Amino acid sequence: MEIQFKKADILKDHPQDSDLGFGTVFTDYMFNMDYTPEKGWHNPRIEPYGPMQMDPSTMVLHYGQAIFEGLKAYRTESGDIRLFRPKDNFHRFNLSANRLCMPALDEDFILEALLELLKIEKDWVPGAPGTSLYIRPAIIATDPYIGLRSSHTYRFFMILSPVGAYYPEGFDPVKIWVTTDYVRAVRGGVGQAKTAGNYAASLYATDLANKDGYTQVMWLDGVELKYVEEVGSMNIFFMIGDELISPALNGSILAGVTRDSVIRLARSWGINVVERRISIDEIYAAHDRGELKEVFGSGTAAVISPVGNIKYNGREILIGAGQVGPLAAKLFQELMDIQYCKADDPFGWTMPVK
Ligand code: COI
Repeated sequence: MEIQFKKADILKDHPQDSDLGFGTVFTDYMFNMDYTPEKGWHNPRIEPYGPMQMDPSTMVLHYGQAIFEGLKAYRTESGDIRLFRPKDNFHRFNLSANRLCMPALDEDFILEALLELLKIEKDWVPGAPGTSLYIRPAIIATDPYIGLRSSHTYRFFMILSPVGAYYPEGFDPVKIWVTTDYVRAVRGGVGQAKTAGNYAASLYATDLANKDGYTQVMWLDGVELKYVEEVGSMNIFFMIGDELISPALNGSILAGVTRDSVIRLARSWGINVVERRISIDEIYAAHDRGELKEVFGSGTAAVISPVGNIKYNGREILIGAGQVGPLAAKLFQELMDIQYCKADDPFGWTMPVK
């Protein structure tokens, strides 16, 4: 398929790298493509970023049939641009599409479309340390219909946003609040898909956490409210004794690309990484024995986010005296060095944008 290009009349001013937060600035262009049962995915086009016109009955607005991804492009010291594990994100995108009854995309084609978009938008990739271009692909259900079924038509789009740190804390440890009243996902649900509803489901408890002075919620499993699943919008790791433990993927946890990168990097350093069920009681018991050395989250947006405090059932524990732990710091540095091409890339995770 040939990608059409429509030129913008006016180009936007670029923000200073030092002013970048997360997710508020968007580049000049976006990629769009439509799906109908008759034509399949068709009309791929790069056009000026702008509002989408939609019928108020558009299905995504009512039933949340929507999926998305998040990946990043980095500017290296030599000025080149590199993507981090884009094929893994696009593969997971198709898994989410399948779970949400959406038509699959050709993963090679959307990568080609992204490279084409980045070629036009390369000047938007910021260069200051810790900054990157966040890429947000999404698919939404577009039938104008308010009966409940899966849509017959879809829009795929990709937008780009130059970003700095995700959390206002930057790399400082965040405070985590464990909820026993709300869950993010349930067994047999859509927890492992990157779909809008999971994020909507997380908002209420996050508000409660924020009101209590905590940044993020730690989610327990939806069956027994006992086993840790995720934190906020990140996967989670616990260093207990000399084991690095992350909750095993069980169908209600998102299979994070950064989570997988952490596991593979840590194993390559000889660390014993274990993926298994881990209860909140076990974490508190390890803390009480003095064996809970570090806790940190992993995600595309935040990369690595150390956890300094956890509050569960009214009891707060402090981890590593509230300081960034050595493993979180080393993982963060190594991931950044690979992403910015300052270190070897033994896993072949980065892809040049020419
Ligand atoms: C990401 O880490 O890229 C995500 O998709 C989380 C999002 C809530 C910013």
